[in-house]
Amino acid sequence: MSLSLAQTTYSGGDTSLFESISGDIVDKGYSIRPYALPTNLTSLLSQHIIELPTDEFKRAGIGRTKDHMINDFIRTDAISWITDDSEAGCAWINWAESLQAYLNRRLFLGLFSFESHFAHYAKGDFYKKHKDAFKGEGNRVLSVVVYLNPHWASSDGGELVIYDKNSPSSVVVDNSKITVIPSFGTIVVFLSEEFPHEVLAAKRDRYSIAGWFRLNNSIANNIDPPS
Ligand code: OGA
Ligand code: MN
Repeated sequence: MSLSLAQTTYSGGDTSLFESISGDIVDKGYSIRPYALPTNLTSLLSQHIIELPTDEFKRAGIGRTKDHMINDFIRTDAISWITDDSEAGCAWINWAESLQAYLNRRLFLGLFSFESHFAHYAKGDFYKKHKDAFKGEGNRVLSVVVYLNPHWASSDGGELVIYDKNSPSSVVVDNSKITVIPSFGTIVVFLSEEFPHEVLAAKRDRYSIAGWFRLNNSIANNIDPPS
């Protein structure tokens, strides 16, 4: 399928969703939009992920490139990086790029590139509390997660827990945590450096996509180059 056809077919052509996400980011630094991904795109992605051969999934690691290592204490899920080789991958990247363009126009975020992977949490899998980016390191600005699980019950576990930076976790305040059920088509977007988060152990197969919008590395590290 051509890129333009994927765009018209799956992007939803719905800027009100992008506007809601943009407003949430300004107000709170994160956005949680239940069942908001266009249904035909969610279906295409969920079909694709369950048909992906198991050997396409690799045990997820932590850290980048040379420090990359697998750590069973931190995370136990398996991932598969998304490319535009499939119709589903293409439609997803298209949707993400439309969101990127919208947020750049609206919020001047300067998002430059996008990377994302499918993730499979088998029964018992988890991802302990972490941040997706650290200040002064790397260039992930905005994280996006979407869920591909029809009929997820609260007894199925696997919730995403986001810790609000305004309420340190050492202080036990109920509203310091935001819990998201990984239901079909639910979208979560948040500032990568601001919100520690974790995935609680799933009690059945849990499918999702996690992606990151990045700044242009060469610009980010050379805002004021030495003369
Ligand atoms: C991640 C992540 C959250 C989720 O992959 O970095 O935090 O709910 N995923 O799958
Ligand atoms: Mn994360």
